[in-house]
Amino acid sequence: MAKKVPYRLYLSEEQMPRQWYNLRADMKEQPEPMLNPATLEPVKEEDLYPVFCEELAKQEMDATTRYIDIPGEVLEFYRMFRPSPLIRAYNLEKALDTPARIYFKFEGNNTSGSHKLNSAAAQAYYAKKQGLAGLTTETGAGQWGTALAEACAFFKLPLIVYMVKCSYEQKPFRRSVIQTFGAEIIPSPSTTTKAGRAILEKDPDTGGSLGCAISEAVEKAVTTEGYRYVLGSVLNQVLLHQSVIGLEAKTALEMLDEYPDIIVGCAGGGSNLGGLIAPFMQDKLLGKASPRIIAVEPASCPSLTRGRYAYDFCDTGQITPLAKMYTLGCGFVPAPNHAGGLRYHGMAPILSKLYHDGYMEAMAVEQTKVFEAAVFFAKHETILPAPESAHAIYGAIAEALKCKESGEAKTILFGLSGTGFFDMTAYESFLNGTMTDYIPTDEDLEKGFAQLPKVPAFK
Ligand SMILES: Cc1ncc(COP(=O)(O)O)c(C=O)c1O
Repeated sequence: MAKKVPYRLYLSEEQMPRQWYNLRADMKEQPEPMLNPATLEPVKEEDLYPVFCEELAKQEMDATTRYIDIPGEVLEFYRMFRPSPLIRAYNLEKALDTPARIYFKFEGNNTSGSHKLNSAAAQAYYAKKQGLAGLTTETGAGQWGTALAEACAFFKLPLIVYMVKCSYEQKPFRRSVIQTFGAEIIPSPSTTTKAGRAILEKDPDTGGSLGCAISEAVEKAVTTEGYRYVLGSVLNQVLLHQSVIGLEAKTALEMLDEYPDIIVGCAGGGSNLGGLIAPFMQDKLLGKASPRIIAVEPASCPSLTRGRYAYDFCDTGQITPLAKMYTLGCGFVPAPNHAGGLRYHGMAPILSKLYHDGYMEAMAVEQTKVFEAAVFFAKHETILPAPESAHAIYGAIAEALKCKESGEAKTILFGLSGTGFFDMTAYESFLNGTMTDYIPTDEDLEKGFAQLPKVPAFK
């Protein structure tokens, strides 16, 4: 008999995790190593030092340490916005008339409006500890840029943010928040880098892409004395930091004598999903439990459901190492009418490997359906979700409705990775009926696949 469950369950500060969980330590088969594109040899930790700060390079390469201590200073930072609540979506359940019990872990309760602050805090802290002069990064929708600007302001570190141009233009207030925290912000592609100038020369009117902004941020870091680059998703280290989401969720569910049958998360580069599922995936890898794990991605940028599992560049300008992941090709840019976030061409190598090995499922959804779910959720739970997070809401609702059909009272956990206050242009286009769906044809996707780097099969 399940215990009486409050609407919102907040852990105490003492119950917050003191260590991050490194999922790779329990993976029987490891993700393929990152490769140096020039030699096609596996990248070594030292090779990453010119780009990443040293502690983060170490975490990136560490496939064996199961638990890594969260530094005291980062824990102090976390205390300003964590633990985040685990919410029982009673009103959503009622509205759906489902016997399923729906829980969501809400990461939007901080100024960045998303889970991104979990990794930003760690990355800014390590950069400061190393004595760096500053950091560069890219941001798409703006949550990561805001989160890192917050963390850099706190740790007193200069920051340059390359923001995907179409978001820069669509979200002036997001820009202002980043500037409020003291970061410099540049719309990408820009003329400040070789990569940006090359992209602009080919396509002067481009609205930019995450892959392109990454190229610019990396180039700026390696050409500026004392600077390093940080990334808000995809990398092993980012999934490591985000494991606090899943660790807290698991502790809270244990207090309620609950265990999820189904876990749903949205997947852009894979960081919130990777963090949410981490300790549950551990149970699955160790044969202790077998929750279904579902990644939800946009139909217009379907890297898991229609991408190739192949080595590819992490950026459009092709200056990063090669990662083996589900990818649409690093030149893939979602159609301009796609407003629903999650626009990255690839997927975290850890999640790609787990998906490839059958530990996870994936589904792709059109953006109008995502916004329908977002509005429905907002009306019943009074939280305005980020369009990215609304993909997870859609997936959770779909599973809850299946429970209604079958009469099963399953426990569903989903990740509500953030809030959507800066996404009102997209909400507006949904509400006034001008939002359209775009699903790339096989031919469109072939163009991206044709540009995949040729890596010998034995690698
Ligand atoms: C609120 C929110 N959720 C999810 C994502 C997707 O990123 P990831 O897949 O790394 O969690 C983003 C990315 O900008 C985001 O802002």
